[in-house]
Formats: sequence, structure tokens, C-alpha cells
Amino acid sequence: MIIREPYVFSESYMPTEIFHRERQIKDISFSINMVLKGYSSIMLVYGPQGTGKTTVVKYLVERLKNESNGIISYIDGMLNQTPLSLISKVCNDAGVLLPSRGFSIDDALNKLLKIKKPVILFIDESDAVDSSIIYKLSKSIVSRKGGFLGLVTNVPEFFNFNDFRMPGISIEKVEFDYYKPEELRDIISERAKLGLFPNTYSKDVLGAIVGYGLNKGNARIAIKLLFLSAKEAEKRDGNFITIEDVEKAKEKLVSIVKERMLNKLSYEERLIVDYLIKKGRARSEDFYPLLNKSKRTVREILKRLAKKGYIIYNDKSTRHGRIREYRLNYKI
Ligand SMILES: Nc1ncnc2c1ncn2[C@@H]1O[C@H](COP(=O)(O)OP(=O)(O)OP(=O)(O)O)[C@@H](O)[C@H]1O
Ligand SMILES: [Mg+2]
Repeated sequence: MIIREPYVFSESYMPTEIFHRERQIKDISFSINMVLKGYSSIMLVYGPQGTGKTTVVKYLVERLKNESNGIISYIDGMLNQTPLSLISKVCNDAGVLLPSRGFSIDDALNKLLKIKKPVILFIDESDAVDSSIIYKLSKSIVSRKGGFLGLVTNVPEFFNFNDFRMPGISIEKVEFDYYKPEELRDIISERAKLGLFPNTYSKDVLGAIVGYGLNKGNARIAIKLLFLSAKEAEKRDGNFITIEDVEKAKEKLVSIVKERMLNKLSYEERLIVDYLIKKGRARSEDFYPLLNKSKRTVREILKRLAKKGYIIYNDKSTRHGRIREYRLNYKI
């Protein structure tokens, strides 16, 4: 037996200790304290995948729910991509009653604006949501005494900050950078200690796992690799994890990571990516019949995919004029 507590390796596990994110926790907490005193701000919380953004935000949200008298809401943009579902969720968390059908977004935004308490809202995976609704929502959230909108994303370029500018509102950024080797080692050692039986892994094995995680800059990948390596060792009835187990686990990890990236896409985005996986390259015109949407919408979706780093394009001049050709980014 190697694995003592599988839950420690799952995505929904909240670590008992968050390592090396003191500065980010301090910066976000500081702004929120100002909001509780009546100031308002919009904050971009950004950085690459697996760098602890969701973990830190959820930790702060839980803490605030216990401590503050404001309205605290955490929304996963992936699960609430349409304007209607996003707004309904915010209203629900804020205790704003909406008719079960036939309400307009503007009505809901007006109701939110009238809330007297401070409102603290985080939208995780915020680039999955239509940005026009985020700009509208930002006005309802921060045009009050005490409003905070935290936008969590891998792609800070997704938002145009000038569109958020409002008098008296501060706009802030908090960056989550890739973990350094010793930082990732602390995270992985702690997980191993909590999730595995003692004496089932060596320093070398943890080193190999951390090394791989660093190469991808991603704590999620390192934690998953640790878990898969432990499973490999259990499969062959070993008493401890070997470097060979880690190597085997790496092969399995690739498909899991790919699947997660694809799961993050909306239906239309997925159609485009699948098409490019099949064809290699394509032009905008190829996507019009595929998506059955207006040309403008298709171009918007392509732009969004490029901003998220899934696809890249180059423009070519031909006899028939300029054409734009798309292909997948190497990451997928
Ligand atoms: N500082 C940390 N201390 C302990 N565990 C961490 C830390 N940072 C990340 N983790 C763990 O790594 C995994 C990924 O972290 P998290 O989901 O917070 O990343 P993220 O920045 O939100 O990534 P993404 O951009 O892909 O959503 C989680 O399982 C989390 O528990
Ligand atoms: Mg996240």
C-alpha cells in the first residue's frame, strides 16, 4: 500500500497550508479590507495554469464568508458562461430575488446596484465569459460604497483595462508567477506527507516529480504526477515509488492534461479545435459553415481562442488578397 488518502490529490481538496503565496494573499486582502471600508476596486488576478490562483481565491472567499458582513460571491466562469447564467448566479449569491422567468439583464444589474452592503465578487476562469457582460456587471458591482470585482484568468490581455475605467475606482493587478523549484518542492512534499504512507517515496522520486512540474510550471501537474506515480507503484505491488513508476506515470499524464485543456473550451471553441486537430490548418472561411454562426461571431471566437493561447494564425498575401491561416498552438 502506498496511497493513504486519495482525496489529498483531488482537484477539490483545499490544502491545509498554502505555500509561498503570502504576497498575493496580502495584496488581495488589503484591497478587500478597503472595500469593506467603502472604497471600490477592480482587480485582475492572473498567471499561468496551476499557480494557485483558484486555491488562494477560494481560501480568501471562505475566510471572508466567516468574517465579514458583506456579500461574498465566487463564480466559476466555466460553469456560468452565458450572461444570463452569470447574472442569475450573482443575484442568487447576493440574495437578490429575480422572477423565475422573463427578467432582463438590465433589471438584474439595476437590482444589484441597489444593494446597500459591500459586494465582493470573484469570477474565476473569467475569460470563459462573454467580456461585454463583465464590463456591464463591473459597473453594478463597483458603483457603490464598497464593491470589489476580482477577475481571475490565465490571459490578462483578454480584458481591456480602459473599458473598466470609472472615476474613483482603483484598478489593480495581482500576479501569480510560476513556482520556483524550492517552492514547488514544499507543495509536493506536503502532499506526499499527507496522502502517502511513510517510507514509500524517496527524495529522488520527489525531485523527479518536481522537475517535471517545473518544466510545465504547474503545481496541478506535479500533484497529479505524484498521484499517478503512486498508482503505478501500487499496480505492480511495490512497496515504494521508483523512478520508473514516475516515467510511466508521465505518459499517462499527457492525455489527462490535454483533456483538461479541451474541457475548458466552450462548445464552439471545441468544434474549432477539433477541426484543427483533424486538418492541421484552416482559414476563417472553413469555420463559417462548421459553426453555423455569423462571420463576425466566428471571428470573435477565433480571436478569443488565439488570446487564450490555443491557436495561432498568420496572415499571407496571395493573388486573391490577404488570407488568414489558423493552426493549433504547440501546447495542445
Ligand atoms: N501554494 C500552494 N500551496 C499548496 N497547494 C497548491 C498551491 N498552489 C497550487 N496548489 C495546488 O495545485 C493545484 C492547482 O492549483 P490552482 O487550481 O489553484 O491553480 P490555478 O492557478 O487556479 O490554475 P488554472 O489557471 O489552471 O485554473 C491545486 O490542487 C492546488 O491545491
Ligand atoms: Mg484556477
